[in-house]
Amino acid sequence: MLQRPRRNRQSAVIRDMVEETRLSVKDMLFPLFVQSGSGKKTPIVSMPGIHRYSLDLLLKEIEECVELGIRSFALFPQVEESFKDSVASESYRKGSLYLDAIHAVSSRFPEISLLTDVAMDPYSSDGHDGIVKDGQILNDETLPVLAKMAIAQAQAGSRLIGPSDMMDGRVGYLREALDCAGFSNVGIMAYTAKYASAFYGPFRDALESAPKFGDKKTYQMNPANRREALIELELDEAEGADFLMVKPALAYLDIIALLRENSHLPIAAYNVSGEYAMIKAAAQNGWLDGEKAMLESLLSIKRAGAQVILTYFAKEFAQLNQA
Ligand code: PBG
Repeated sequence: MLQRPRRNRQSAVIRDMVEETRLSVKDMLFPLFVQSGSGKKTPIVSMPGIHRYSLDLLLKEIEECVELGIRSFALFPQVEESFKDSVASESYRKGSLYLDAIHAVSSRFPEISLLTDVAMDPYSSDGHDGIVKDGQILNDETLPVLAKMAIAQAQAGSRLIGPSDMMDGRVGYLREALDCAGFSNVGIMAYTAKYASAFYGPFRDALESAPKFGDKKTYQMNPANRREALIELELDEAEGADFLMVKPALAYLDIIALLRENSHLPIAAYNVSGEYAMIKAAAQNGWLDGEKAMLESLLSIKRAGAQVILTYFAKEFAQLNQA
């Protein structure tokens, strides 16, 4: 036998030497949830280990994460029902929970990268990512709302926005709006291939942002489609995106690889709430080794071609790396 692949697996040193993919805390972006009030740290039941923080405790949490070496975060707001309306006006109101949080976080931690979310659903009384009329999600009418939101976030200190809504043309629309408002340095991480997925369930629990009627299939992509991701890729590139994202990650590793092969832009993948919940639930039952399952799935996302991994495991990974 000339070739014996097991020769390169015979000791830990050799296995490390030939290791093709290595995870680093630098690959990771940690999504966090903010809520109103103070002194509040509310566990998200369907995401063991993850909490919703009031701003004071959010700052403490970020400080702890920074000490662990995490440098990138995403932030999502839980908006009280009484602030929601059909046009998401809370999303660009000065003094809102989210804009104040962006301001506080970016001034307190100027060295971190904070991805801020642009989408109507947390603020929409319909729970959809666009303006709803007669049961339809309106595309072009939604774009100006997203632009107001993006500019308000940039004014509050955001340097990277993440439009997670899947309206057509929004990357270009936001690029132009930001440029015109003097924010040409604010980047856009486009949710390029965001699928209509069952794996967002725990996130919608965390924010109480589930759609009040219907589903998101007229704007999020059909999980059956692969070539369509290339259409979205071409559009987002042409419209000025700085990052392309695939979401969810684990059931879409082929899509991550596809985007990697077809673009020179950095590819991000969102290891979503349901993917986190699955591993946590199985681990809590003693059905699998949670730590190993976490590492293996994060590794698979990087191996598939993602350079940035948005993951609720970021802090646990960082803690493990310190130990
Ligand atoms: C919606 C949005 C969703 C997530 C982030 N932004 C889900 C949805 O479409 O309802 C999901 C993230 C996760 O599940 O971790 N703008």
